[in-house]
Amino acid sequence: MRTTETHTDKLDRRDLMKRAIYGIPLLIGGTITACVGNYLFGKQKVPASGWSDAGDISGLQRGKPHQIRFDKAVVDGWTVRAQESSAWVVIDDKQKVTAFVPVCTHLGCAYGWRQDKRAFVCPCHGSVFSLQGDVITGPANRALDRFETKVEGNRLWLGSVTTSEGA
Ligand code: FES
Repeated sequence: MRTTETHTDKLDRRDLMKRAIYGIPLLIGGTITACVGNYLFGKQKVPASGWSDAGDISGLQRGKPHQIRFDKAVVDGWTVRAQESSAWVVIDDKQKVTAFVPVCTHLGCAYGWRQDKRAFVCPCHGSVFSLQGDVITGPANRALDRFETKVEGNRLWLGSVTTSEGA
């Protein structure tokens, strides 16, 4: 059984405690500084405008819906963060671009395009919407909601959501 501690053991332990006492706050301070610096000066992946880059639409077939995925810019107080999102985009023969919010206006299920019916169909309760987003069959009683759109060059930008009127 070891009963005595040498003088150097005590010093080493004391030294270790001192380093911990001074080191831990430094580590916490450094982490906080790094987080604040990243928040203030880090690269933003989404623009602060509220418009989201939904990508190049030059390859999309006219008159047929395409589901696209994009990072939606969500403005939350002082911060803008990216939220994975999607939209159903339709480009008509006159090059007019419409982007539908991908949730059914009945109770919010994700609907899909059925090429055989040439309509958007919701699997939850059977609502059917036309290519223009209008209700063909309920229970949904209002058209599909839309994103604001703008096209710059070949790129589609999506803005805020316009909620459709109820029937
Ligand atoms: S949620 Fe789509 S029909 Fe009910």
